[in-house]
Amino acid sequence: MEFLKIQNYNTLMTMKSIVLLLLCVVRVNAQVTLPSRQDGFWYKNRIADTETILIEAFFDPLCPDSRDSWPPLKLAIEHYGSRVSLVVHPFPLPYHDNAFISSRALHISNQLNSSATYRLLESFFDHQGKFYGNATINLSRSFVLDKIARFTAKSIGNSHYAAVKSAFTDPKTDHATRISFKYGCIKGVYGTPFFFVNGFPLADDGSTLDYNKWRKIIHPLLKN
Ligand SMILES: *[C@@H]1O[C@H](CO)[C@@H](O)[C@H](O)[C@H]1NC(C)=O
Ligand SMILES: *[C@@H]1O[C@H](CO)[C@@H](O)[C@H](O)[C@H]1NC(C)=O
Ligand SMILES: *[C@@H]1O[C@H](CO)[C@@H](O)[C@H](O)[C@H]1NC(C)=O
Repeated sequence: MEFLKIQNYNTLMTMKSIVLLLLCVVRVNAQVTLPSRQDGFWYKNRIADTETILIEAFFDPLCPDSRDSWPPLKLAIEHYGSRVSLVVHPFPLPYHDNAFISSRALHISNQLNSSATYRLLESFFDHQGKFYGNATINLSRSFVLDKIARFTAKSIGNSHYAAVKSAFTDPKTDHATRISFKYGCIKGVYGTPFFFVNGFPLADDGSTLDYNKWRKIIHPLLKN
């Protein structure tokens, strides 16, 4: 009997701890400061309105599946023109080396020359192998950061190198990249590429979407 009582007491304490823990989680969530503007990079500056179909893409610039999913999506977006709007959110996966630095580079590029952001994204896609695995395993963080700063400047205009370098020390660009990541988490993103159409997640695995599948997704929506 006594033993049972102690057990119950322990159960009670465990439950109390769980409740406390849940309260902590809720508190942490409440502490995410609201961003002053929406996250993401609009393709060709075609910002969505109520008449357009909105595609949200979460890409890790150093993710091979994101790279492979981009050409068919780009082709589909170009096919439908102004009827479809695309916004890309960087989503740095924790298991990809240097994903956060390269996502930050996209924010920096967007700040310095917003018309070059997609060009930089495509450059990362084209040269991913330079930034992870054996290519960087023995390099220091500051060396990699400089490598990515030079790469970024080359893509958006070499005259921007000093500005890119200094933007990497600006807490605002760090914060913007964190917001991108947190936004993905809030939407339930757990890998890349990850797509939403008019706010709803696609049932297909993002990496299997070819041009024809995109047409099959978008076409019926335009008819209605
Ligand atoms: C901004 O980027 C665009 C596209 O890459 C390029 O044509 C333009 O020259 C750049 N502008 C500046 C000021 O570097
Ligand atoms: C990376 O380098 C190590 C040591 O130099 C080598 O054993 C390994 O095969 C390399 N991995 C790849 C994927 O190239
Ligand atoms: C990294 O450094 C270690 C230790 O010096 C070495 O054994 C390894 O081969 C290096 N890897 C690459 C890919 O250069």
